[in-house]
Amino acid sequence: MSTLGEFYLVLLLTFVFWISASLSGNVGVVHVLESEENLEWVLSSGPHPPYVVILDSPLFTRSVMMKLKNGSRRVAGIAVVAPNANPPEGFSPHTTCPNENTGVYSEDYDPIFAHCNITVWNPLGNGLSYEEFDFPIFSLKDDNETQVIRQCYLDHNRAANGTAPQYPLCAIELFSHMSAVTDTATCMRRNDINFSISPEIVCDPLGDYNVWASTRPLNNTAKGHKMWESVVIAAARLDSRSFFFDIAPGAESGVSGFITLLAAAHALRNATQQAPPNRTILYTLFQGETFDYIGSSRMVYDMQNNQFAVDLNNVHSFLEIGQVGLRSDSKLWLHSDQLSRKNTSVNDELIENLQSAAGRVGISVGEVGFSQPLPPSSFQRFLRAKPIPGVVIEDHQSAFTNRFYASMYDNAEYLNVSYPSNLTLEEQLEWVTDTAQALTEVATIVAQALYKQAGGQDVEARGITADPKMVARMLYSFLIRSNNSWFQQLHSSEPTLLVQYLLANLTGSTVNMYYYMWVQGAAPPNSTEREGFCTRSTVRLSKALSPAFELRDYTSKEYSTWTESRWKPFKGRIFLVASHDLEMLTLGIGIGVLLTSLLLTYIISSKADMLFSSGREPTNATY
Ligand SMILES: *[C@@H]1O[C@H](CO)[C@@H](O)[C@H](O)[C@H]1NC(C)=O
Ligand SMILES: *[C@@H]1O[C@H](CO)[C@@H](O)[C@H](O)[C@H]1NC(C)=O
Ligand SMILES: *[C@@H]1O[C@H](CO)[C@@H](O)[C@H](O)[C@H]1NC(C)=O
Ligand SMILES: *[C@@H]1O[C@H](CO)[C@@H](O)[C@H](O)[C@H]1NC(C)=O
Ligand SMILES: *[C@@H]1O[C@H](CO)[C@@H](O)[C@H](O)[C@H]1NC(C)=O
Ligand SMILES: *[C@@H]1O[C@H](CO)[C@@H](O)[C@H](O)[C@H]1NC(C)=O
Ligand SMILES: *[C@@H]1O[C@H](CO)[C@@H](O)[C@H](O)[C@H]1NC(C)=O
Ligand SMILES: *[C@@H]1O[C@H](CO)[C@@H](O)[C@H](O)[C@H]1NC(C)=O
Ligand SMILES: *[C@@H]1O[C@H](CO)[C@@H](O)[C@H](O)[C@H]1NC(C)=O
Ligand SMILES: *[C@@H]1O[C@H](CO)[C@@H](O)[C@H](O)[C@H]1NC(C)=O
Ligand SMILES: *[C@@H]1O[C@H](CO)[C@@H](O)[C@H](O)[C@H]1NC(C)=O
Ligand SMILES: *[C@@H]1O[C@H](CO)[C@@H](O)[C@H](O)[C@H]1NC(C)=O
Repeated sequence: MSTLGEFYLVLLLTFVFWISASLSGNVGVVHVLESEENLEWVLSSGPHPPYVVILDSPLFTRSVMMKLKNGSRRVAGIAVVAPNANPPEGFSPHTTCPNENTGVYSEDYDPIFAHCNITVWNPLGNGLSYEEFDFPIFSLKDDNETQVIRQCYLDHNRAANGTAPQYPLCAIELFSHMSAVTDTATCMRRNDINFSISPEIVCDPLGDYNVWASTRPLNNTAKGHKMWESVVIAAARLDSRSFFFDIAPGAESGVSGFITLLAAAHALRNATQQAPPNRTILYTLFQGETFDYIGSSRMVYDMQNNQFAVDLNNVHSFLEIGQVGLRSDSKLWLHSDQLSRKNTSVNDELIENLQSAAGRVGISVGEVGFSQPLPPSSFQRFLRAKPIPGVVIEDHQSAFTNRFYASMYDNAEYLNVSYPSNLTLEEQLEWVTDTAQALTEVATIVAQALYKQAGGQDVEARGITADPKMVARMLYSFLIRSNNSWFQQLHSSEPTLLVQYLLANLTGSTVNMYYYMWVQGAAPPNSTEREGFCTRSTVRLSKALSPAFELRDYTSKEYSTWTESRWKPFKGRIFLVASHDLEMLTLGIGIGVLLTSLLLTYIISSKADMLFSSGREPTNATY
């Protein structure tokens, strides 16, 4: 058979398997796991594999998951029942050392700090998010439908007195089709193949947009270095992740930081318009930082390649707001690195500005000792490129305070955002919780320090203070309910765009060179018609797509290479299998596939010369 013939055969077989896999989901007999010992039933003794295992959240641990992974032949899928309250012992499916290989510390720079050798930032991390599982894992809300599944299990599948249950058995089918294969290099190469027979894209690079704004308009048409321009960057990250798709509230890991930055930007609006300091403050919100600093590495790359409104030499100093929502001992910590301390005058000035602002607000700020590296932060990507003075503000001195880093439990409950039960939804929106009050204090410190750092005079006299009502509204909107009267005015429901509109609304200013944005506005009390208006602001989006994809270097060690598989909508159904139907069905599909492929093989190999007579590949072609 010709090489090309074989190749098409492989393609066809892949196609046939794909069809059969997408027609039938993963079917398995329901097994509600009652304890870790009970795993034995699933992994070896149970007579009706494969099983779909229903896990209560206390059993969703590394130990159980790794045992199930090891026995994946007998596991068709897992459904984890999400609890109604956070587990008190903490849980983090991320690694102990987030973004271990893409920060500033490496074998070339400060190797003693590399790989979290000195400080393990996320000690509770169990790494589950980075394991490969051969079966789908779903999350279920603990509601009536979950109760139906449990009842079905109790009625039909539970082994009574050690004897195997009889048919009919309760079964579940989980549909979750992922197109991608192996790794980024392989699937990006497959994307690039332009055969008419498989025009399918199997995976996409992870990416979104960074949001940025400046206190003075920067000419964004003229890229690269700007003479006379000196910017102070104020940064936070926008993204968060968790083990499960679409439940990544990131309350402490992301929201606490970017709300503080937005509130600080709002607090600075009047002062920066009435008495503009002679340095520009550049607010930046980075996307995709969880996945090896996608957003910040792209901005640095753009600055290095004259693709951004300013370049690295324009950057005077850097202030990053990290996780600041859990300030239990009422203390904030300033983290820095010897590279950022290189320019002692600017660095000392920044720390002094933060400390005096904190003094005015009545919060103590500690400087972390020099024997400790920077925590995972966007600032590391800037330091990788240039020793810029700067600090990262956190609520922890060494390891994260956050016990739920990158998990679905890093939520409003964890940040203690809760409301008296007699408030209506609209009253909750305006209710200032203790957390809102605490973040307002941090925002005030950040705003005053930024103003001073940018060269502003008379900080005390300008009354730069963050608005607790604004912080309260943002906390409510990002963590509790985004479908509220305030967010509805903003004309978007997509998170990045929401933040863009919000930043525009909070910083909107009055000089030239703006970027106009339509805002739906509120409806007056006697009408349902909204009164829209345009906001003039300097807010813009910049690409947050890893430079690795620009450079087509899919195995880059320098930049993030995360891709996301294309997938089909998830769904599941529960039903009773009457007899050996299940096995028969599986066997039937298997035989069907085999026969079809044999037939196809026969047809193709017998007609190969005719089918592939023209354009034959050279015999040394490999695929
Ligand atoms: C994985 O399963 C095999 C048997 O299937 C067993 O021998 C081995 O010990 C298991 N490994 C772990 C880590 O559980
Ligand atoms: C880890 O840190 C210790 C000191 O705490 C040092 O002796 C050791 O060399 C470090 N390991 C690496 C790989 O840098
Ligand atoms: C769940 O079931 C209870 C009692 O069976 C019922 O009162 C309640 O309305 C149900 N909830 C939903 C959301 O169906
Ligand atoms: C299980 O055993 C108990 C006592 O040993 C007995 O009362 C019960 O009827 C048995 N259940 C079944 C389903 O056989
Ligand atoms: C694939 O096809 C598109 C148009 O269909 C074309 O623009 C692109 O350059 C092709 N890519 C390769 C790698 O041939
Ligand atoms: C912005 O820069 C572009 C390109 O250098 C220039 O043509 C334009 O006049 C500038 N705009 C302003 C308002 O200075
Ligand atoms: C900003 O100035 C306007 C009028 O100049 C005033 O109404 C508003 O309260 C000020 N905002 C802050 C946060 O000081
Ligand atoms: C900023 O303004 C102050 C006076 O207000 C001046 O001394 C200083 O040189 C200015 N800095 C820059 C970078 O223009
Ligand atoms: C520190 O930074 C300032 C402002 O960018 C610069 O003027 C000064 O020369 C730098 N000092 C050193 C020692 O590099
Ligand atoms: C809610 O209840 C508290 C007392 O429990 C009361 O002080 C408060 O006024 C009530 N608020 C509203 C909006 O009714
Ligand atoms: C921000 O939104 C509020 C309420 O919708 C509106 O009154 C205000 O004018 C907006 N500010 C800007 C600068 O768009
Ligand atoms: C709504 O009320 C405002 C003043 O309260 C009035 O000017 C306006 O005409 C009213 N609009 C309608 C549609 O009745």
